Order: sequence, then C-alpha cells, then structure tokens
Amino acid sequence: MKWRPRAVSYRAKERANISFFIFIMFFAVFGVIFLTQLLLLERPNATGSSRARYNEELQSWEGRTETGNGETGEAPPPAHAPLDAVWQPVAGTRFRFYVYSAYVERRTVPAVRVIAATKTRGADAVICRIWLPDNRTLTLKTRVKAIRENWNLKYSATYVLCLLRGTGVKPQDTVGASISVVAASSPSRPPTNLLTVLDTEPKSGIEETLHVCVKPFHYSYSRSDWLVEWFELNRILGASHFYMYNESLSAPVGCLLDHYRRQGLVTLLPWKLPIISKVEIRTEGQFAAFNDCLYRSMSATGWLLVIDVDEIVMPRRERSLPALFTALRAFYSPPSKAPAAFLFRNAFFYLRWENDTEAPAPLVTARKTRRWATPHALKNRSKYALRPRDAVEIGNHFVWEHAPGATSAGVPPERALLHHYRMACEYGGMNCLTVPSTVDRTAHRWAEELSQRVTAEKEQIKRTCPATFT
Ligand SMILES: *[C@@H]1O[C@H](CO)[C@@H](O)[C@H](O)[C@H]1NC(C)=O
Ligand SMILES: *[C@@H]1O[C@H](CO)[C@@H](O)[C@H](O)[C@H]1NC(C)=O
Ligand SMILES: *[C@@H]1O[C@H](CO)[C@@H](O)[C@H](O)[C@H]1NC(C)=O
Ligand SMILES: *[C@@H]1O[C@H](CO)[C@@H](O)[C@H](O)[C@H]1NC(C)=O
Repeated sequence: MKWRPRAVSYRAKERANISFFIFIMFFAVFGVIFLTQLLLLERPNATGSSRARYNEELQSWEGRTETGNGETGEAPPPAHAPLDAVWQPVAGTRFRFYVYSAYVERRTVPAVRVIAATKTRGADAVICRIWLPDNRTLTLKTRVKAIRENWNLKYSATYVLCLLRGTGVKPQDTVGASISVVAASSPSRPPTNLLTVLDTEPKSGIEETLHVCVKPFHYSYSRSDWLVEWFELNRILGASHFYMYNESLSAPVGCLLDHYRRQGLVTLLPWKLPIISKVEIRTEGQFAAFNDCLYRSMSATGWLLVIDVDEIVMPRRERSLPALFTALRAFYSPPSKAPAAFLFRNAFFYLRWENDTEAPAPLVTARKTRRWATPHALKNRSKYALRPRDAVEIGNHFVWEHAPGATSAGVPPERALLHHYRMACEYGGMNCLTVPSTVDRTAHRWAEELSQRVTAEKEQIKRTCPATFT
C-alpha cells in the first residue's frame, strides 16, 4: 500500500513530462516555421531579381483577402522592387492579364505605355498606379488597346496606355517611376505587378546606328553554326545590337548568346508568357515582343531592323544597311519627306536547292544562291527597317501605325532583297522546289570577310562553349 500512491504519482509525473515534451516540440516546430516565413518574406527587399522568390510572393498576395475594403484614398505601397522584362500578372481580372514592360510615351498622347497581353475583345477594365521619383503617388485612367496583328485569337498582345492628361504630370516626370496595372474592379488590392518606367527619348549621335529585333526563340532553338554566320553577316552589314527573347533555347545556343551578350551585342530577355502559344495567342505572343523591342530600342538607335534568324536583308549596291538607308532617303526632298520605314521584298532561298559550285567559302549564304525568280509582293512576308521614334505600332511584315507625319516605302528589289533561308515549302511537300528560280550571288560580296569573321568568332566561342559546335 505504501508504494501505490507513489507509483500513481510516478506515472502521473511521467505523463506530465510527456505532455510537457509534446508542448515544447509543438512550439519548436511552430517556431521554425515562423522563422522560415519571416526570413522568406524579409528577403524580397533586396533588389536582386530573383524571379522565383517574386513568384512566391505573388502567390501569397493572391491568397490574401482584401484589406481596407470600402476605404478610399491610400494605395498600398509597392510589394517589391519594380521589374522590367518579366511577365507579371494583374490580379482580380476575369480574363488573364499580364504586363511586361513600361515606356514613356510623348508622341501620341502623354502617357506611360505598358506592353501587356490579355483578352483580345472585352478586356477587363484596369487602372494604373504610379509612384513617381518625387514620391507622389497617382492613380491614372487607362486605354486598353489590342495590338492589331492578333489573328483573331482569344488573347492578344495589348497596349495599356496609362493616361497622364489632366494630372499635371509630364511624360518626362515618369522616367524611372514605378507603375502597376490594377484591376478596376478591385482598386484597393495590393499590386501584383510593378514595372520600371523606361525612357524612350532618342539620345544624340545615334542617327546611323542600326539595331535588330528578333521574335522569341522557341522549340529549343539550336542552330548554332548558322546563328554565328547570321550574327556576323548582320554585324558586317552594320548592326551593332540585337534584342532577343528567350521562350526556349538549347543550352549550346544559350552559351553562344551569352558570349555575344558579354560583348554588349545582345540583350536576351526572358519570355515566359503563361498563355498557350498558337491556341490562345499568336505564336509566342510575338507581337508583344516586336513592340517591346520597338520601345526598348527607341532611345538607343536611329534604325531598327525587324527580321527573323533565317532572314538577312542584303543591299545590292551599298556595303552596309545604314549606307543604303542614307542613299534611299537622299531621293526625297525636303529630307523631312523621307520615309521613316523601308520594306524589303521576300525571296526564298531554299536550303534543299543545290549548293553553288562557285561558293567562295563554306557558308550557307555563299552556297545557297538559288532563289525565287520573282520576289513576293510588298507586305507579303516582307520585313522592314524603321526609325523607331517614328513608329507607334509594328507588326511582323510592316508598320501598322506611324507617329504623326511619318510614312513607309517599299525598296525596289534592285536595291535590296530580304534573303529568306529556309528548308523548303511552307506546308510540306517538295513542289515548291519547282517554282521559277534564278541564281543570285549578292551574298558572295561578303563571303571572304564573313568567312574569316565566322572562323575567328567560333574559335573564341569554343573556349567558353565547348559543346556549341558539332
Ligand atoms: C522621397 O522619400 C524618400 C524616403 O522617404 C526620401 O529619402 C527622399 O528624399 C524623398 N524624395 C523627394 C524628392 O522628396
Ligand atoms: C532561357 O529560358 C529558359 C527557360 O526559362 C531558361 O531555363 C534558360 O536558362 C534561358 N537561357 C538563357 C541563355 O538565358
Ligand atoms: C551542300 O553542302 C553541304 C556541306 O557540304 C552538305 O551538307 C549538303 O548536303 C549540300 N546540299 C546539297 C543540296 O547538295
Ligand atoms: C503571297 O505571295 C505568294 C507567292 O507569290 C502568293 O501565292 C500568295 O497568294 C500571296 N499572299 C497574299 C496574301 O497575297
């Protein structure tokens, strides 16, 4: 009997100990979770552009219920550092709505022009909230405008014009501001996107500069050998910078582009748009990329060439494209009447056609000299060069909207042609190889110089990218 109460109290004590242990464990686990959350939430203040972290943060915003319902006025502060060239969501819209970049617009209406993608017709109403460098915060009305070349698909590249009229803010004041596109139906919701407003004012001394826009790389683009030839020929022809978008690339091409990026020749921007290509939106949302490129290059280049990586504009008299543009513009008087864009007619050079026995170098452009005898008509597969400051909206084959007073003109095939190097036939079959053709050795004018440059550049690239060439 004596030991019994003790035994009971012993067992009770043991139970109490276990409970206490569980209690402590509970707090330990809870504490670890809490600390992890705290650290994760703390870090986005650093401006390092970790996109993964940013996505997590967006999800956490989307999971949150709205605060300050019914209250007016105070906008919540930006949730993170502004980003450029990342597709960011607009939350609270009925249809998917993404924004990519923001530019100062001085020419048409005073505005910040946002490159976006959303429903082609009946897009959700949105407003813009802007945090100016002088610390003022404003809410702006918008105009949402589908970019014209949308092939009637459900989604389209879109402009959101954040209108400055009546706010007392001049376009110039928005340079470097942060801007967010917010669903008009939930204006007090914390912003889920934040863009840096980039300037578009042309710098001085860029009149003869030539930059190139290329639509997003996709299907794990992997033609390294050809790409070096393409880059080097365009450089010989006067191009000094290339804007490119990465939807998907092979690792060897990624390494090659990194080589050119380190030399300051390439801007490669991520392009992960969560809208299904070809089903919901025209090929990879390429019209958003072209128009992003138009505004991105505006302050930095006098001429912009919009071509694909299987195309080269070959002048037939001049040695370079800027020399050709100058010569073409000299026809017009006064000079202010000169066109702001030149369109080049397309001629297919099928790679399946025979190799030129007189090719002076082992290059695609030197071997493939047979082309369609009659180039396509203007605007049918044509590509173009333009003064970016004089264009408002561009498409794949021509300029859709010029700045007030500017015009386009076709270039006669005797002066330049768009050489389009492709396997053969648009829709399968071999019939297209029988179209009337002719041998055109314009490319041989550069073959020797090109061959030397391609060899030298490949030697350099191989040092950092051993897997790039076969
Ligand atoms: C804006 O606010 C920041 C932080 O409060 C301050 O350091 C800065 O001087 C302000 N700028 C202007 C132009 O008032
Ligand atoms: C291209 O994008 C893919 C997918 O986002 C990425 O994994 C890859 O690293 C990018 N390549 C380069 C060279 O940036
Ligand atoms: C052209 O030459 C290349 C390189 O020698 C070769 O691989 C290709 O098969 C040739 N093409 C034709 C159509 O003869
Ligand atoms: C474009 O040119 C090709 C070849 O000349 C022709 O078959 C086709 O009908 C043209 N397309 C349009 C839309 O004019």
